[in-house]
Amino acid sequence: MQRTHSTSNHRALIDSFGRPIEYVRLSVTDKCNLRCFYCMPKGFKSFEEPDNWLTFDEIGRVIAVFSELGVQRIRLTGGEPLVRHNLAQLTHRLSAIEGIKDLSLSTNATLLGKQAAALYKGGIRRINVSLDTLNEKRFAEITGGGKLSQILSGLEKARQVGFKPIKINMVVMKDTLKEDYERMLEYCIQNDFTLRYIETMPMGTPGRDASNQYQSLQSVKQQLMEKYDLVPGINTGGGPARYFRIHGTDFQIGFITPISQHFCETCNRVRISVDGTLYLCLGQEDKLELRPLLRAGISDEDLKQAIINAVARKPERHEFNEKPGQVVRLMSMTGG
Ligand code: GTP
Ligand code: 5AD
Ligand code: SF4
Repeated sequence: MQRTHSTSNHRALIDSFGRPIEYVRLSVTDKCNLRCFYCMPKGFKSFEEPDNWLTFDEIGRVIAVFSELGVQRIRLTGGEPLVRHNLAQLTHRLSAIEGIKDLSLSTNATLLGKQAAALYKGGIRRINVSLDTLNEKRFAEITGGGKLSQILSGLEKARQVGFKPIKINMVVMKDTLKEDYERMLEYCIQNDFTLRYIETMPMGTPGRDASNQYQSLQSVKQQLMEKYDLVPGINTGGGPARYFRIHGTDFQIGFITPISQHFCETCNRVRISVDGTLYLCLGQEDKLELRPLLRAGISDEDLKQAIINAVARKPERHEFNEKPGQVVRLMSMTGG
């Protein structure tokens, strides 16, 4: 890892396992206009109070500090990030921070029809869109009433506006069938979208929701290999997907396998939730609350040191396999 953006005294974020941290996933809201059952339980209402949301000024300050510590990639997440008002104002601001080379967005695409152009103008160039099925009825079931046509037109708008790459995130569940994942593959080939299959992680309420939804992607990959000539591909993002290319084409398929083949040894990221909590691992509780520090007037220098100290406590890995019943938090709090 190059340390081209470390501070003048050459500090960078490196955890106690030697992993450089260069990617921050920033959740701008814990709300969502869909209810994917594996992410937010039905009837869930305990959302963070607006007074506790980091303001755009506070976010700008925190990200500037992270960039001085070597972070180059920021991904906006939610809940659904586009339900945060005036998100494009924030993206303008973040894309202007020196050192931020990659500003991206993970979205459910419901509001892209309206907001895609403003977001592109605001400096976002690549987006990842959650879409688990192309079957209208199944889509409504998974998302608690979502309309598939709205996502498909949001995606069309995103393409027209110029986002590239557009990646489709398909969470593969226990009852996802071969015909579901093959149909998604054909759709992505036709539309020039990168496809990523994702193993369902046990976030949510113990015993319900996502905790018993896992299907290994190893067998999915085997099945696909019988039909498609998959050869190793190139990682086109900063994330944990392992890519394969369909031989003779540019079409890329990523496999995100937190359960069957975890990728924690190369972890490069931390997360910030809407209330300004820095979570050090998706699958663990370890955290640092930044909001009280910011609102008590901490200096940039002390904030940097607090972040460096927190990163030094980053856990080695998640324990989804060893402690299957232990659910740390809802996925909607950190946006994956
Ligand atoms: P790129 O920068 O495009 O590579 O993005 P990404 O794949 O990192 O981000 P995205 O928001 O699209 O996440 C895709 C899936 O990967 C989601 O299900 C995330 O929860 C999962 N994921 C992302 N980062 C991590 C991680 O650090 N640990 C685990 N266990 N899962 C992760
Ligand atoms: N397991 C795996 N992926 C999940 N996501 C949300 N919840 C889970 C889960 N329990 C995915 C979303 C989105 C990405 C940011 O995280 O589908 O594409
Ligand atoms: Fe990193 Fe934790 Fe995700 Fe593993 S589970 S890749 S350590 S954030």
